[in-house]
Amino acid sequence: MRILSVEMKNFKTVRQSQRLKLSNRGLVCIVGSNGAGKTTIEDALVWALSGKTLSGLKGNDVVNEDIGRNCHVRLRFQDAHDHVWRVDRYRKHKRYRNRLFLWQRVGPGRWVDKSRHVMEETEAEIRKHTRLDFTSFVVSTVVGQGVLAPFSAMSAPEQSKVIDTITGNDVVQVALSTLRERKSTVKAHLDELLHDVESLTTRCEDAKGYVRKAKAGAVEERKRKKERLQICSKSITKARRTLKEAIEAEKAAKERDDRVKALQSRLDAVKKRFELADGQKTTYLVEERELRKQMDRYNAVLKKGAKGVGYCEHCGGQIDNGVVKGLCNNVEALYDIAHQAYTKSADEVKGLRDLWEKLAKEIRAQEPVKDSSWSVAHARDYLREAKEALQVVKKEKPTWREAWLNAKKRMAKLETQLAQSKKKAASAKRQLAYVLHAEREYSHDIPLDIQDASLPFLNKKAARFSKIITDGIIDVEFATEKTNKGGNTKEGICVTTQNARGGSKYIQQSKGERQKIDLVVASSIQALNTEMARAGVNTVFYDEPFDALDAASVERVMQFLQEELKTRESVFVITHNVALQSHFNNVIEVSKPEGGTIFSEV
Ligand SMILES: Nc1ncnc2c1ncn2[C@@H]1O[C@H](COP(=O)(O)OP(=O)(O)OP(=O)(O)O)[C@@H](O)[C@H]1O
Ligand SMILES: [Mg+2]
Repeated sequence: MRILSVEMKNFKTVRQSQRLKLSNRGLVCIVGSNGAGKTTIEDALVWALSGKTLSGLKGNDVVNEDIGRNCHVRLRFQDAHDHVWRVDRYRKHKRYRNRLFLWQRVGPGRWVDKSRHVMEETEAEIRKHTRLDFTSFVVSTVVGQGVLAPFSAMSAPEQSKVIDTITGNDVVQVALSTLRERKSTVKAHLDELLHDVESLTTRCEDAKGYVRKAKAGAVEERKRKKERLQICSKSITKARRTLKEAIEAEKAAKERDDRVKALQSRLDAVKKRFELADGQKTTYLVEERELRKQMDRYNAVLKKGAKGVGYCEHCGGQIDNGVVKGLCNNVEALYDIAHQAYTKSADEVKGLRDLWEKLAKEIRAQEPVKDSSWSVAHARDYLREAKEALQVVKKEKPTWREAWLNAKKRMAKLETQLAQSKKKAASAKRQLAYVLHAEREYSHDIPLDIQDASLPFLNKKAARFSKIITDGIIDVEFATEKTNKGGNTKEGICVTTQNARGGSKYIQQSKGERQKIDLVVASSIQALNTEMARAGVNTVFYDEPFDALDAASVERVMQFLQEELKTRESVFVITHNVALQSHFNNVIEVSKPEGGTIFSEV
């Protein structure tokens, strides 16, 4: 990050708008009496970016009390990608109230507003482009005036805390506590999932058992239905056969009746003809007998008559034999006729009797038709009922089959849920393993790694700075120290000093020696901060670094500041000691006349 310039109005002791170029300034002395507004320059930078000053002033306290409004600080900087940004922070401003703006330069005099709706978000956006938060920015740009100066005087845990903040170990600790919270959440979640898996497994087993039972029921039910359908079909076949038999029996009975009727009528006719013929025969027989008797009488007459005379049997008169003979011949002829008629008639009678008997025999021979046990109507009813019974069985809804299908669906659903729960549980197990692993890393390995990496760096810098500033008389060393807090042993970094010509403790050192040690420590930590943040700042302010130094020490610190120019574009040294300005080519004078602080280039 390159700080380009700062501009302020009605800020703290400044009233009239004051502007300072901060880039490419080299070594510059800012000189002014106590309270003139020297530290106000650093405050303006820090306030523009974060909303608070180095001493913690915020809110309306930064607004110049004499004016009481229209406080404004403008800061220009360039980010790591060479984009130029402008920050405008206002307080009690008649137009912009208490707003914060972030602008990006897109061309000469052309700026695009990149501010967010919420001030915190704009500040976050600024941090993104400066790549520095409040602590990192202050540590990178300011040394002295309460900033890290009393570091060496801090207790070991306090020192550790500052180093932790710089090295990012505090973030590791935050991450660790977050991890621990996450561990318990993941554990609870995993327990829940394992419980789900267990209960779903049991439910799946139950569902499987029911599916088996329902399937067996469905199979049995189907088998039974098939059997009943077969019975119904057989019944229908039987009913059809019965109906057929009944129809055939009815037809056969009718045919037999018709046949017997026909024979009977023929028999009746033969009977009539027989009676007629038999009567005729009797008549011919009587006639034949009469004619025989007549003939016998004529013959007897003929036999008795001697003189050939016959006698009438009725009247006893004499009858001529010839006549009698003629008569007898006549009678004989009649007799023959009658006899022939009789014989013919007897034959006819016999023939008719034979026919009669034959017909009677034939009638008798007509076997009565075997009775069907079913009437056709009855058989039809039987067939209809059998068909209806089949339809009833066909329409019957299987109960077990439906239960089986539903149970299968339920089981599939449960199996899907179980698979999902198992998958989730496996993922939670993996997460837990990862969290446990990370917890181990964050609680032990990473802090140690960070320390291991930071300590040599800090000591290398401290040795170099100490050599320049104290001429190697005072050893400043960063060391690890174990602290015990609430039963937990924690290893941290602290500063130890060793004065070759004096005491070994920081508080034993003289004011000037302490100031040198502070300078060494602060510069080392600043170097670490720049290294860790990988976002070096082009400008640094040393606020009153010569306060308690003797002339030789001033020379050495000046040498150290010259060294700093190798890594910085601008090194500002703030002092109220006017005599010191002879050491510098560039001087900015800060004065506070009636109208407020004024910065003037000398
Ligand atoms: N809101 C304010 N309105 C007006 N003056 C203020 C306001 N806040 C602080 N001051 C004044 O600003 C001065 C502090 O300025 P600053 O800290 O920059 O002084 P300095 O030049 O660094 O002094 P020193 O040499 O003592 O460090 C004090 O006089 C203080 O009273
Ligand atoms: Mg000051």
